[in-house]
Amino acid sequence: MTYKLATIPGDGIGPEVTREAMKCLDAALARVDLSVDRHEYGLGKDHYLRTGEAISESILDELRGFDSIFLGAVGHPDVKPGILEKGLLLRLRFEFDQYINLRPVKLYPGVATPLARKGPEDIDFVVVRENTECLYTGVGGILKQGTADEVAQQTAVYTRKGTERCVRWAFDLAQSRQGKRLALVDKANVLTYGHDLWRRVFEEVGSEYPDVQRDAYYVDACCMVMVEAPEKLDTVVTCNMFGDIITDLGASVQGGIGIAASGNINPEGVSMFEPVHGSAPPFAGKNVVNPLAAILAAAMMVRYMTSSDESSADAQGRSRAADLIEESVETVLGQGRIPDLSVNSGLGTDEIGDMIAEEIAGR
Ligand code: NAD
Ligand code: IPM
Ligand code: MN
Repeated sequence: MTYKLATIPGDGIGPEVTREAMKCLDAALARVDLSVDRHEYGLGKDHYLRTGEAISESILDELRGFDSIFLGAVGHPDVKPGILEKGLLLRLRFEFDQYINLRPVKLYPGVATPLARKGPEDIDFVVVRENTECLYTGVGGILKQGTADEVAQQTAVYTRKGTERCVRWAFDLAQSRQGKRLALVDKANVLTYGHDLWRRVFEEVGSEYPDVQRDAYYVDACCMVMVEAPEKLDTVVTCNMFGDIITDLGASVQGGIGIAASGNINPEGVSMFEPVHGSAPPFAGKNVVNPLAAILAAAMMVRYMTSSDESSADAQGRSRAADLIEESVETVLGQGRIPDLSVNSGLGTDEIGDMIAEEIAGR
C-alpha cells in the first residue's frame, strides 16, 4: 500500500526538519512494507513574494486528494506577521476542518527538563487543543484606524458543534489512555459566555464517559500545575488560544520546543502534521536545529492518517511504523546520545535524523 502524502517544507528551518522527518518516515514504512508517494509544494515566503498569494484555490483543491499533509514551518521576517501564518497555516487548518490539534507533552528518558525533581514518570500528558474557533476565526475589525478614536475588536467565537466535537474526541482519547482523566482548561470565571458553553458541554458529554475522571483548571492555575505538579495531568482539553499558549509551556517542560510535535486532525478528512515550533529564521540552513519534533510529528501522522484504500493489515502496519519511530526516538534519547535538544547540542540536524533512521532500520 502506498499512501499519498503532500509536503509543505515551508520557510526557515522547515525544509531541514522536514527532510529528516521524511528520512525516518521512509525507514519506518520500509519495515512494514508500506510507502508514501510524496508531492512537495513549494509554498511559503518565496511563493508569496512571487505570486502575491499564500495559497491558491487550485492548490487547496489538489490537497483534498491526499491522504495526509506534512508541514515544516511557515513565517519569515520579509513578510508582515500574519500573512503566511493566517494565509497558509491557519487557512489549511480551517479549510480542511482539522478541528483537533493534538500536542503530546512527554518527557523522554535521557532528556533534561527544567522542572526540578520531575522525571519521565511525572511528565506524560496530551493536550487536545480545539483548532478551528476561539480568537482564531478572524472575526473582528478596526475602526478609525490611526486616529485617537481607534477601535480594535477581535472576537472569540465558540459554537456548540465545534466545542462538542472537540470535547467528545478528547473524552474518547482520555478513555483510551491509562490515566482515564480529562481536565478541562478554561477561564470560565471571566469568559462567562464562551467558556460557560465549554463547561456545560464538558459536563454533558462527560456524563457519557463514567469511567473517565473529570477535572477542571482555570488556565492561569493550569500553568502552575504544569510546572509544579505535571503528574496530575493525563489528557487536557482546551480552546484554541489557551491551547496555543500552554503547549509552548508544555514544550519547555518536556525538554524544549525541539521535541514538541503536533497533529491538526480531521478524524473524517485530510489531516496535517507539523512540529509545534516555527521557522526559527536565525537558524535556517545552519544544520543546528533539532529535527525530533518533526520526526515525532511524522510518527503521529502515520498513526492518524487514513486512506479509503487501506486494509486492516495496512492499518496495523501503520500503527507498527508509528511505534517504531517513537521507540527509536526513546532509545536514542535514553542512550544519552542527544543530551541537549536546543540549537547548542553540537550535533547536526542531519546527524540526529540519521541516528533515528538507523535505529528504526536496525530494530
Ligand atoms: P520559533 O519556534 O520559530 O523559534 C523560537 C526559538 O525556538 C528559536 O529561536 C530557537 O531557539 C528555538 N527553536 C525552534 N525550533 C527549534 C528546533 N527545531 N530545535 C531547537 N530549537 C528550536 O518561534 P518564533 O521565533 O516566535 O517564530 C518564527 C516564525 O515562525 C514567525 O514567523 C512565526 O509566526 C512562525 N511560526 C510558525 C509556526 C508554524 O509554522 N507552525 C509556529 C510558530 C511560529
Ligand atoms: C502554533 C503557532 C500558530 C498558532 C501560529 C504560527 C499561527 O503558534 O502552531 O502553535 O498560533 O497556532
Ligand atoms: Mn504556537
